Amino acid sequence: MIREKVEDIARQIEAFKADTQEELEKYRMRFISKKSVVGELFAHLKDVPNSEKREVGQLLNQLKQQAQSKFQVLIGDVESKSSGADQAPVDLTLPPAGFELGSVHPLTYTRNKIIEIFERIGFNVADGPEIEDDWHNFTALNFPENHPAREMQDTFFIEKNPDMVLRTHTSGVQIRMMENQQPPIRSIMPGRVYRNEAVSARAHCVFHQVEGLYVNKKVSFVDLKQTLYHFAKEMFSKDTKVRYRPSYFPFTEPSAEIDISCQICHGDGCQLCKYTGWVEIAGSGMVDPNVLENCGIDSTEYTGFAFGMGIERITQLKFQVNDLRLYTENDIRFLKQFRTLH
Ligand code: DAH
Repeated sequence: MIREKVEDIARQIEAFKADTQEELEKYRMRFISKKSVVGELFAHLKDVPNSEKREVGQLLNQLKQQAQSKFQVLIGDVESKSSGADQAPVDLTLPPAGFELGSVHPLTYTRNKIIEIFERIGFNVADGPEIEDDWHNFTALNFPENHPAREMQDTFFIEKNPDMVLRTHTSGVQIRMMENQQPPIRSIMPGRVYRNEAVSARAHCVFHQVEGLYVNKKVSFVDLKQTLYHFAKEMFSKDTKVRYRPSYFPFTEPSAEIDISCQICHGDGCQLCKYTGWVEIAGSGMVDPNVLENCGIDSTEYTGFAFGMGIERITQLKFQVNDLRLYTENDIRFLKQFRTLH
């Protein structure tokens, strides 16, 4: 009796077809689950006489396996049917969807643009280490020892060697240039700098500067003014106004901060320029004779000007980026807005 039942169920399994999930479930209930016909037969195994138990047990196991492997086949059938059904017919003549191309980071764009502007008027590009010694970051730049200006810069010191710091500005590269070559020197030095600041919309512990240096015979403040005047017009627009405000840096004398007319309100007054119409873009000045001498350059023969500006700041003014954190968060919604730059 039980043998006939097994044969009958085996035929049913063989003949079963499934096109949909519902049919598949029907199959599972009927042949796989605990309460399936196959399960029921197993329950009856205890009524089979002992002498036949072994043989019948083997038959049932075979049936169970048959049910399982057919189930796998049916799953495959249903999957291929349903995925085909959901898809529109493929049009092989359509052009491909295309790749999403990345774009230049706005800071990279600004850095390249600054380099381009200065290269066109004869500046070359130089580089220096981000882990800098006290001499290049401070002492040679005329920061006296224990001078409060050192603290002003919120320096990160290297724990194992207090003589080494993460550079707080790119001005140390000026020193390296002047130590390694005699004038004329006409270079810009872009790079990353570090300060021990809490990260906020207006301050960051890592940012970028571009340093500029021109040393030669008879370099004057007029050269400085004209160079940065040219830069501001090229970087922003021809009608950008520039003003020089007296300031102090240990490594320049005299020193000036450079402001440009606000790019947002064009002088009418807005939040960005704090209703003054002007925004600061750089520090600058005539290289202090002490600094020239520290580097082995004769200050009676040569003079020079220097300037330093923040790349984030210039980018902010150009593209109205009002939160410094955006530059490093890699938010694709921010980065996508610069797609057309190159
Ligand atoms: N190093 C200055 C800073 O980080 C910027 C600066 C000011 C650089 C005047 C210069 C300069 O070369 O002449 O704030």
